[in-house]
Amino acid sequence: MMNTLAPSLVVSSDADPVTGYRAFTLGGFTFVRDDYFATVSWPAKGERLTHKMSVDAFLRAMMRDVAWGFFYGWVNFDGVFGTRNRYGTVDVFAGRYNENYHGAGLSYVENFDEPVILSTFKAILADWVNAGFDPFAAPAETTTSVFGPKNGDNIAAIERTRLITQRMPGIPGDSPLRDDEHGFPINRQFADVPQDEPEIIAEPGFENELHAFSLFKYLSRSDVTWNPSVTGVCQRSLACPTTEEYLLPIIHGNDRVEWFVQLSDHIVWDVQDKETGRPRAKITMRAGDVAAMPADIRHQGYSPKRSMLLVWENATPGLPELYESGKLPPYPIEF
Ligand code: PHB
Ligand code: FE
Repeated sequence: MMNTLAPSLVVSSDADPVTGYRAFTLGGFTFVRDDYFATVSWPAKGERLTHKMSVDAFLRAMMRDVAWGFFYGWVNFDGVFGTRNRYGTVDVFAGRYNENYHGAGLSYVENFDEPVILSTFKAILADWVNAGFDPFAAPAETTTSVFGPKNGDNIAAIERTRLITQRMPGIPGDSPLRDDEHGFPINRQFADVPQDEPEIIAEPGFENELHAFSLFKYLSRSDVTWNPSVTGVCQRSLACPTTEEYLLPIIHGNDRVEWFVQLSDHIVWDVQDKETGRPRAKITMRAGDVAAMPADIRHQGYSPKRSMLLVWENATPGLPELYESGKLPPYPIEF
């Protein structure tokens, strides 16, 4: 997803003589980093408000936002700052979905053409991610070099291509399966996952129409965390399995119903109201559990050890409008 986009779309300062980092401007927002923090500022009531996040958390969130093309709906970096995908354009907001900021008149939203925000966020990642830090990796599998003054970069990690599967990995011409030879060893926390592939026995004449692979083997070799990738496509139904460890770096606000199938281990989800951030539920999902996340919530997952999760997305065009107008209820089933 990391294309080279016109640098002319990016507004930035020279490198700071003390920290070595550049500062960036996107419309009314500014982004500054120091040894430990990312600081976002925006106009409110004739002044400028500032908001700090730990820079590791900020970069992990920004990496997901860029890699996912702003995802479905809202990507909250924390309870204050984030983006809302308008599909073609993107809202950047501060305090808008925090009832205290918004109620006090201190929130700010600005809409950008997608290439402008994408170029700016990519430029921030390129400048602020130091050598050795991988924003996609579990904390135990990367370094703390994210902190401190500017020290090199890690372009390979932030430009990792996200494999887009047309139907299923391993079908001739589609994305490849994972193995040692192609640089995908078994993750340290999935050493017990069986590695045998299913035997495929097709009726004569149907050899090219039947396919199967071991999803457990495939996921045991994922080198990233919290990065659902399209791995099975059936019309508008997208199976997006992913491996999770530590904290989902964003709080996702849904613009449609999305389903979770916990395939191994467990994840605890904090579920909040999408508009205000008020707490709504805590859900512990163990292997085999299935949940539908409604269209009116935001959620963040906690995975104490690496686990496997199937995220099932509905890519039917027009869904956000159907939910927003109330034509569809926010939950998928009436009991
Ligand atoms: C989600 O917001 O639903 C989500 C995002 C990333 C993941 C898992 C779930 O890895
Ligand atoms: Fe989600």
